[in-house]
Amino acid sequence: MRAMRILLPALVLVMTVSCGPREVRSTVNAGADVERQIDQLLAKMTLAEKIGQMNQVSAGGDVSRYAESLRNGQVGSILNEVDPARINEFQRITVEESRLGIPLLVGRDVIHGFHTVFPIPLGLAATFDPELVEEGARVAAAEAVAQGIRWTFSPMLDIARDPRWGRMAEGSGEDPWLDARMGEAMVRGYQGEVPGPSSMAACVKHFAGYGAAEGGRDYNSTFLTERQLRNVILPPFEAAVKAGALTLMTSFNDNDGIPSTANSFLLKDILRNEWGFGGLVVTDWNSMGEMIAHGFGTDRKEVARLAANAGVDMDMMTFGFLSHLEELVRSGQVKEAVIDEAVRNILRVKFVLGLFEHPYVDEAAAASVQYAPAHLETARKTAEESVILLKNDGLLPLSSGRIRTILVTGPMADAPHDQLGTWSFDGEKSHTVTPLKALQERFPGKVVYVPGLTYSRQQRSRFDDVVAAARRADVVLAFLGEEAILSGEAHSLADLNLIGSQSELLAALKAAGKPVVATVMAGRPLTIERDLPNCNAMLYAFHPGTMGGPALVNILMGDVNPSGKTPVTFLRTVGQVPMYYSHTMTGRPYNGETLLDGIGPEAGQTSLGNTSYYLDAGAYPLFPFGYGLSYTDFTFEDITIDQDSYPVDGTIRVSYTLSNTGRYDGTAVPQVYIRDLVGSLTRPVKELKHFRRVRLGAGESIRLTDEIPVSDLAFWGADGQKKVEPGEFQLWVAGDSASGDPVTFSVR
Ligand code: GLC
Repeated sequence: MRAMRILLPALVLVMTVSCGPREVRSTVNAGADVERQIDQLLAKMTLAEKIGQMNQVSAGGDVSRYAESLRNGQVGSILNEVDPARINEFQRITVEESRLGIPLLVGRDVIHGFHTVFPIPLGLAATFDPELVEEGARVAAAEAVAQGIRWTFSPMLDIARDPRWGRMAEGSGEDPWLDARMGEAMVRGYQGEVPGPSSMAACVKHFAGYGAAEGGRDYNSTFLTERQLRNVILPPFEAAVKAGALTLMTSFNDNDGIPSTANSFLLKDILRNEWGFGGLVVTDWNSMGEMIAHGFGTDRKEVARLAANAGVDMDMMTFGFLSHLEELVRSGQVKEAVIDEAVRNILRVKFVLGLFEHPYVDEAAAASVQYAPAHLETARKTAEESVILLKNDGLLPLSSGRIRTILVTGPMADAPHDQLGTWSFDGEKSHTVTPLKALQERFPGKVVYVPGLTYSRQQRSRFDDVVAAARRADVVLAFLGEEAILSGEAHSLADLNLIGSQSELLAALKAAGKPVVATVMAGRPLTIERDLPNCNAMLYAFHPGTMGGPALVNILMGDVNPSGKTPVTFLRTVGQVPMYYSHTMTGRPYNGETLLDGIGPEAGQTSLGNTSYYLDAGAYPLFPFGYGLSYTDFTFEDITIDQDSYPVDGTIRVSYTLSNTGRYDGTAVPQVYIRDLVGSLTRPVKELKHFRRVRLGAGESIRLTDEIPVSDLAFWGADGQKKVEPGEFQLWVAGDSASGDPVTFSVR
């Protein structure tokens, strides 16, 4: 095996990225010895071999189809091969039969688990538990790396405030602070504290602004200002990059007319020069080629030039670099120094991952890691924490002693594939434990299963069979929602109501007169206001993954007290899009004015309201960001801060008494929101700046103190500078973004 022997440096020296007037510390510190070896290797490479490293190929199945390209050094990375033996064959040809033996970087979309599938990322965000999410990412890396996959195209950090957009499922929701904490957790989980031979390189995506697609239609244009980018969209990416993410992916969208894959403001000015990103930038799938469709380039040669000069290092599936870069360099349209920098970034990631030293995977050991009991346990615990209790009239938790017959119904009760959610390519449905299976296991002989609808879009006008079964049952458990295919990439929806005849099914069950618990599994917050009256309780589970069934049963039976919180606003109707908690105030904030049903036939024009709201849908959502009930009750009292006024470099210490005033032990999620009352720009009415999970026994109280650096209140102001602007602020400590009364303080 011809692999270059690398003596990893004992002392990892800090590398700096030279960027004009100032030096910025690189976010990927491979060490001086590795940097030296990169330069030595680069010096040996022909231009064609350098360009080969910048080419990524989706290569699954027959390795022989790619053998010549591998031997010729025309492939730097492959994606979508997951078989360890074939991965080793790809590697063997590359390392042992190419001239320089530079190993491949093998990538895969390991988005929320590999074989053991976790809740979709929106569900992970609902846990408000970065530590557990990090543990889950570590599990995903352990299973994927054991099969030879060393790069995942995750975390997706696109801020999403339009639930029509199907990819809301893949991100951490609407809030930059929660998104950033989840992104950092996943980077740490995938890569470990110091990336090495057991790491899976993270890929922060999609850079940038993809979630603001106009109309919520995937791939659509976005029109984000630089201020909106800097104050809302980019902070999670910066956090993940500074957490050490080794790679980043450009987004499909054009923002304000410029496709991200050719946006040097994003890829150079911000990513490299301001943040010091030292990893590699890969395009999204053919996003380079799609710039022709965007009307931003006439052919592949031109878009390859645009992408290379904008700062793209690796081309996923356009083959624009492989086909045209050599000619572009020869003609001087792309400087070879640009190629060298791209190849350095690629080689740095490969060195840091230890690929030169350890290019092969232990095929014999791969299977033993998959679905390990500890992995399934972590997945179940994560699913439990991801479930949000939206309504409970006291029916939950169920008492097993009073249950003789349980009716299980609905299209998601036994949907082993769809329960895994979108982007779970390698999750095998044979391992999924559905709610039906979990209930049958826990209550043998007591479960009656009448689906009512075999899939969500099925139309039925009558449910006589289900209603008859409901009348014979003690409790009805209806599992509703949307299949995995109805969310995710390219799957935007214009109507967010429960699809098909599901609402009719729930109404029929309600009419049967027995207690009904509705559980919704979906890839987004559906508009379920009309369904709430037709159930005694409602749980919301963003496609909960392999262990969703046991997790839901543990919650239904009270073994686990639900603690999930909404990572996105739940709308009353899709017509309210976009509606999110950290909105600005406007000059006419809603003040409780009359709604449609309060307006008489002779109402004059001026009485039709003078503030910002909908006559037919008001000004508030169904459930706010950060919302979720528990089987117990929590109060936040005696909220105090340690000073009335703080210096810009100070620390706010907010103390409060958290009490569990109910009958069940439970976990609260105290959230600290802050409002900057007056700024050089209009500011959000509140922004999340701290959260934690606190387990508290029934009847217990605890005095807590949270610390918020005043510097966390900085924003990019009218002068284009990021700083804390002195003035008056308000601070809330509450169980969601719409509760509590503020305390005030000032910054001087
Ligand atoms: C897709 C997605 C991206 C994914 C890539 C590779 O089109 O946009 O998120 O990582 O292609 O599958």
